[in-house]
Amino acid sequence: MNADADPRHFRSLNDLSRDQLLAILARGEEMAADRAHETDGAEPGPLAGRTVALIFEKSSTRTRVSFEVGIHQLGGMGLFLSSRDTQMGRGEPVADTARVLSGYVDGIMIRTFGQETVEELARHATVPVINGLTDRFHPCQLLADLLTIRQILGAERLETMTVAWLGDGNNMAHSWLNAAALLGFELRLAVPEGYDPDPEIVAEAEACASVVLTRDPEEAVRGAHVVSTDVWASMGQEEEAEARKAAFQPFQVNARLMELADPEAVFLHCLPAHRGEEVTAEVIDGPRSAVFQEAENRLHAQKALLLHLFR
Ligand code: CP
Ligand code: NVA
Repeated sequence: MNADADPRHFRSLNDLSRDQLLAILARGEEMAADRAHETDGAEPGPLAGRTVALIFEKSSTRTRVSFEVGIHQLGGMGLFLSSRDTQMGRGEPVADTARVLSGYVDGIMIRTFGQETVEELARHATVPVINGLTDRFHPCQLLADLLTIRQILGAERLETMTVAWLGDGNNMAHSWLNAAALLGFELRLAVPEGYDPDPEIVAEAEACASVVLTRDPEEAVRGAHVVSTDVWASMGQEEEAEARKAAFQPFQVNARLMELADPEAVFLHCLPAHRGEEVTAEVIDGPRSAVFQEAENRLHAQKALLLHLFR
């Protein structure tokens, strides 16, 4: 396990050991296959009497809905808190918010800008803190992505696969690097100059896995079992969108590129997607795409994560 890991929280994938990650994915797959664990209200579920605060400082469809529904299905309550309506949005210190919320709720999920906000919350909260996306990481998405790969390609592939990441060296790329470090699969990132992932996160992954950083999308994709990409301008980068389009165009995932991947290769995208930009409609709506299974898996993977954190 990473030296900085804090198993009480899920600030990034680095808070998990390899075995914990694999156990969460196995449980997530069971939950996806067998909905019998869902409480109908007559029997108390595993999260009965527990409340999880869901703080959003950025927009969300999947993260909000999958957490609210997942917590409900486990018998608990999710409490949506928008920074537009809370004192946190008016500058109340994160540390004070952490202490106050810890007196009311049993867990805190936060989607925010800086990773330091998640770290500060975790330092001062006495309940588990979950990272629901920062500018640096998107670990909940990786749980769903890995669960999808487990379902389609089998559990063994998780540690023997080659994953191609095309586009931005962003929060998703960083979480893929963390996943490679834990599981040891080969990760090839084709990223335009100027948009590389953080060298520190690359170095951590390189210590445990084969990491290839290239400017050549074809090199990244050749023979890959998984091909993934993300928007060219993430939330908070709207003003850079036009400049980014020119830089990222050669990194678009299209049918010609998918032809170079393994014949059974799976295409993943965390969504929301921009058809005609980072991926063509032909690929994202084509037979190798698993993006809607991946989106549904946010629900199952996060329920498994919640049971792990509330163990
Ligand atoms: N993939 C993802 O996190 O989606 P949302 O932004 O809709 O939550
Ligand atoms: N990289 C994207 C992911 C959205 C789910 C963003 O941060 O906006």
